[in-house]
Amino acid sequence: MGLKKLWYRGKIAIESLKGNRGMIPPRSMVFVGDGDFEAIGNEFKAYLIDLAGLRPDSHVLDIGCGIGRMAVPLTSYLTRGQYRGIDIVEKGILWCERRITPRFPNFRFVHSNIYNKLYNRRGTVKASEYAFPFPDHHFDVAFLTSVFTHMLPADVEHYTAEIARVLKPGGRCLVTFLLRNEESLKLIESGVTPARLAATHHVEGPAWTSDPQIPEAVTAYEQGHVLDLLARHGMTARMPIHYGSWCGRKQFLSFQDIVIADKR
Ligand SMILES: C[S@@+](CC[C@H](N)C(=O)[O-])C[C@H]1O[C@@H](n2cnc3c(N)ncnc32)[C@H](O)[C@@H]1O
Repeated sequence: MGLKKLWYRGKIAIESLKGNRGMIPPRSMVFVGDGDFEAIGNEFKAYLIDLAGLRPDSHVLDIGCGIGRMAVPLTSYLTRGQYRGIDIVEKGILWCERRITPRFPNFRFVHSNIYNKLYNRRGTVKASEYAFPFPDHHFDVAFLTSVFTHMLPADVEHYTAEIARVLKPGGRCLVTFLLRNEESLKLIESGVTPARLAATHHVEGPAWTSDPQIPEAVTAYEQGHVLDLLARHGMTARMPIHYGSWCGRKQFLSFQDIVIADKR
């Protein structure tokens, strides 16, 4: 790489660090998984724009927003739009409310004390009964990154109905899964998939897990069920699905499988 190109890349890196200063949580506070916090956020920002048609004036809902991994990179893009994030871990929401909203008032966050055996054992509200605190047909884009991979079938069913309710007709949903299909099952059976992701224990119905004690640690879903679920709630999954590398696949887009669905 030439010196000029190197200098330019360094400059961009410094500028982006400056821009996000104060909004990136310290490593010790991050509970949303390993990996490069900023790189993963930027990766999904690109998918939201390129695959889900996010625009600078979109109204967007981030379900299971964690500690702002997706919100931070969107602050420089959603200049005329609105972002709403909901999550069940209070410290993540508090961080976002203190670090992001004061600088970007069009970014707001909501905490709900919903039970999840992995993330919020003291939760008092059932996900399967939680009504998203937003009106019908409000959002252009809704997304969940690594959230349905930690939720059980009745909860996923209800959230899908809520997503369909709050999306505008023509709105898009980007959701990541660990999908069980012919290809991933072959890889799982042949031992290529890392054990922590193989999800070989049946939970119930279409859901499988790697951890029978805490099924929400990793939940994988049968692909046919997911497509049917979306269809039953008025959403059509776009084909092809953007499959991920989680199961040991050689050709992939991201780590988890990415489904884009259009609200009819
Ligand atoms: C692996 S983290 C991903 C967080 C975020 N989407 C990201 O990519 O940075 C899973 C998130 O799902 C959230 N979560 C789990 N169950 C939830 C529920 N019923 N409603 C909303 N969020 C939930 C957890 O609190 C956690 O923040």
